[in-house]
Amino acid sequence: MVDVTEQMDNPTFRSDTVLSDVHLHRPKKRHLMVRLNAAGQPVFLSHYKLLRNTEDLASNERVREAATEREREHQDRNGDELCDKDGNNLKKERKFSEGVEALLDADGDLEVVRRPQSASDLEAEDLLRDRVHPVILMKGKEDAFEDEEQECSCRDIVKIEHTMATPLEDVGKQVWRAAFLLADYILFKRDMFRCCSVLELGGGTGITSIIMGTVAKRVYCTDVGEDLLAMCEQNVALNKHLMEPGRGEVKVKELDWLKDEFCTDPEAPYSWSEEEIADLYDHCTLIMAADVFYDDDLTDALFRTLYRITHNLRNSCTVYLALEKRLNFTLRHMDVTCEAYSHFRNTLQDLENLQDRKIKYTVEPIKLDFCQFLVYERIEQLELWKITAAQLM
Ligand SMILES: C[S@@+](CC[C@H](N)C(=O)[O-])C[C@H]1O[C@@H](n2cnc3c(N)ncnc32)[C@H](O)[C@@H]1O
Repeated sequence: MVDVTEQMDNPTFRSDTVLSDVHLHRPKKRHLMVRLNAAGQPVFLSHYKLLRNTEDLASNERVREAATEREREHQDRNGDELCDKDGNNLKKERKFSEGVEALLDADGDLEVVRRPQSASDLEAEDLLRDRVHPVILMKGKEDAFEDEEQECSCRDIVKIEHTMATPLEDVGKQVWRAAFLLADYILFKRDMFRCCSVLELGGGTGITSIIMGTVAKRVYCTDVGEDLLAMCEQNVALNKHLMEPGRGEVKVKELDWLKDEFCTDPEAPYSWSEEEIADLYDHCTLIMAADVFYDDDLTDALFRTLYRITHNLRNSCTVYLALEKRLNFTLRHMDVTCEAYSHFRNTLQDLENLQDRKIKYTVEPIKLDFCQFLVYERIEQLELWKITAAQLM
């Protein structure tokens, strides 16, 4: 039998374990989980505060300024830039050809010697850590959020159950920074999305769909895996208080990019009815996805799904894609690269160049100068893309 307490206290890290930065910097004394899910993974409940008043936004601005300043100092010291002038993915060229073996550990991984942190780094980091959510429940103290909740009204708190440190196939059970970016944009442009019918692809915990649900009429939040979809549905239920009456129905559904059809099996818990498919095709004018470009085959599958769905919609449609470029040093390239991002950009270009008789796809990047409504680090690797799928006939 599984010892639940031990499992909750000692989550197992495997070689393919990934942990989202969103869950990383949190005060040590405030951690523990609320339950184990069906897969035996510890589940956390985090509260994310929506910054609505000017005081919140101003303090958030100070956090961003501190982070920008820190980043600038870091670049000055290294004389190095992460991106080129075109916003492309590659770090300035470096030659590592000599003595690289000396930097590798026994498994061939690169061992990076970190520069000592300066007092100003620590100060800025402290500022960030104090304010970056989530706040994790203390073990055995179910009302740990009470103080915080008393300070701000319930309508300012998004409650999300999620896991941490999952294997790659379960990344959707964590919250990713690009989901916050997309949520920010939705809140910033809320009037534009009012009363829309929306489809989210790879919605994960559902946080972006939930935020969209506060303004849109109906959101189909889709993903794959019963366990993940159950968690997502639980999150939708936890956030009913954010929805305005008569608006914001968030329906959790299965949509696998690797399949050509919607799941309509009535026995499957998150399958689609014929009416729902017709409703989507008749009314959806907006499709969105956050942090779904990390594997080339999945990227191809997602673009195929986008193509198929936009061709079945009755109306023209806008697609928003949020992502975080992940830079890695590879021995193959002897450089810092971002292959998944390059593949995404190539595929995006192919879509725009497509000669299609029914739809013209136009692609544009969105400037990230809109304000933040959620507390996270808006790092320069975040991007938001808009695709307009205009019906030609
Ligand atoms: C990195 S997570 C992002 C989750 C969420 N959008 C966020 O940003 O927090 C990638 C998501 O893509 C989903 N995904 C992966 N393969 C998929 C597929 N074949 N069909 C549908 N969704 C898929 C995962 O389950 C996961 O929820």
